[in-house]
Amino acid sequence: MPTDYDGIAARYQTAKHHAWRTYVEAYTFLGMLGDLSGQAVVDLACGEGHYTRMLPSLGAARVVGVDLSGGMIALARAQEAEHPLGIEYVVQDCRTLQLSQTFDVVAAAYLLNYAATREELDKFCASVARCLKPGGRFVTINSNPDIDFANGSSYLKYGLEARAPGDKRPGMPFTWTFHLDDGPVEVENYYLPAADHEAALESAGFTAVRWHFPRVSPLGEAAYPPGHWREFVEHPPVIGIECIKSCEVPKRT
Ligand SMILES: C[S@@+](CC[C@H](N)C(=O)[O-])C[C@H]1O[C@@H](n2cnc3c(N)ncnc32)[C@H](O)[C@@H]1O
Repeated sequence: MPTDYDGIAARYQTAKHHAWRTYVEAYTFLGMLGDLSGQAVVDLACGEGHYTRMLPSLGAARVVGVDLSGGMIALARAQEAEHPLGIEYVVQDCRTLQLSQTFDVVAAAYLLNYAATREELDKFCASVARCLKPGGRFVTINSNPDIDFANGSSYLKYGLEARAPGDKRPGMPFTWTFHLDDGPVEVENYYLPAADHEAALESAGFTAVRWHFPRVSPLGEAAYPPGHWREFVEHPPVIGIECIKSCEVPKRT
């Protein structure tokens, strides 16, 4: 069963307060996004807008957030109403996404790990390609396909845990547990091999696919004793991907 974020919207928002989210996830993901001056950016699987709200401060001129969960989008819109940044939020399924404009950059934190099959991964990648201009960038962070589930408890010191029901097989559901002060919150993702991600991106028309290992910010290094982040960076539970939509016009046959 895919995770229904409507039921956990507020608790998932709290799960973004863990130190690794700021010092590793955000540092890595925002670093990959870089300077967005003047660019039109859409944030897919935007949730309650955690990253969407940061995009204007990276320079983005137009920002749209898209999510499947009406509960998450309601939280995002409430924050937009309280502190207006000019962000538009839309409820849509990114497997069948249709937007009325194209963008310079598609950002997505934790979208691709909701593909339970190679076909769904193809649909996500095709949707991303559809809403990008030729030459536009896709920047995403997801569960790491190369994660070793036998080590899934080694992340407990960061407040998270990964559990899988057995050996890796394509489409296998696995569980992330975020340990919060008021108890755990769980979300289910699906495992698909790294090679499937590369093939799906290529068949959707992407080139220059680069994987980005998570990096710890200097503030994160300073805030903890030496070696604190070792498990995270040596066995990354999450990983970034960056690629470019090809400018080549498909040849007519
Ligand atoms: C782990 S949350 C990440 C939210 C946000 N990007 C963040 O980092 O805080 C994953 C989000 O993906 C959304 N999602 C899952 N499947 C989706 C789909 N098919 N289309 C659009 N959003 C989807 C969920 O509703 C949820 O809000």
